[in-house]
Amino acid sequence: VWLNGKFLPAAEATVSVLDRGFIFGDGVYEVVPVFGSHIVRLDEHLRRLRQSLAAIYMQSPHSDAEWGAIIDGLLERNPCGRDRSVYLQVTRGVAPREHVIRNPLTPTVFGMCAPIPERVYDKGLSAITHADIRWAYCDIKAISLLPGVLVRERARRADGSAEAILLRDGVVTEGAASNVFVVNAGAVCTPAKSNHLLPGVTRDLVVELLRGAGLDCSEGPISEPELRTADEIWITSSTMGIAPVTLLDGKSVGDGRPGPVWQAADRVYQDYKLQVSAGTAPGEGPGRSRAAG
Ligand code: PDD
Repeated sequence: VWLNGKFLPAAEATVSVLDRGFIFGDGVYEVVPVFGSHIVRLDEHLRRLRQSLAAIYMQSPHSDAEWGAIIDGLLERNPCGRDRSVYLQVTRGVAPREHVIRNPLTPTVFGMCAPIPERVYDKGLSAITHADIRWAYCDIKAISLLPGVLVRERARRADGSAEAILLRDGVVTEGAASNVFVVNAGAVCTPAKSNHLLPGVTRDLVVELLRGAGLDCSEGPISEPELRTADEIWITSSTMGIAPVTLLDGKSVGDGRPGPVWQAADRVYQDYKLQVSAGTAPGEGPGRSRAAG
């Protein structure tokens, strides 16, 4: 792992109990997927990290080039022959426990790398709906994830579901750790970006890929009835890709199988992954997706 300027074994990486990340959940993070040996959408992930930091009155402790070198170092040290995700976390640092921020503090910077589990979506996933119990700054990728942890756990306890799809004032925001897409009569829709959802890098990629493939994709409100009567529901994230939801609150979505529009979207996404892995994806050229590991 990377901790505060050094690569070291995870077991030797320790942080202070007074770290504001530990005490307050005062920090932000990123999860960057790596297909083959190529980092996906690095600029977009680093931009979102900078935006999350700015939103909590912090600056990036590293330049993009330095982040790139940290990611490369993690990939080199964690080869595994599969797709991987790199986790980056920045907390405000160590200080006596008081809410007010007494600058200047030295941020705690942590990075690790893990294999992305192999996923087969032949049958699709099960999800529940849940009230969006989170705060009004969901566009910040904050490490304080207790609401997300609780709704995911409720999904698991309800019926072994993999995700909770969140509803705020009768409209879909996102999943506990994913963005949501629905398909109705062949038209794909995902909620527009706002402070109530994380601007998913995979979400943007999927919108771009769908439009590039001539598939209809809009960004706007999805009401609870529209969710419940959708022909297809998908959830997206850096580690899940595009996953079809075939059971919602115990009821079949469409005919209960991954739908034809998902199949088309996933084909385009898998092609894109192959291009990234081969280093030939448009917009992911040298300097954006570097080779390592
Ligand atoms: N989570 N919404 C939320 C609340 C998320 O936590 C995530 C990702 C997404 C999808 O964003 P992206 O496509 O950029 O991964 C949407 C990561 C994977 C996590 O917390 O592990």
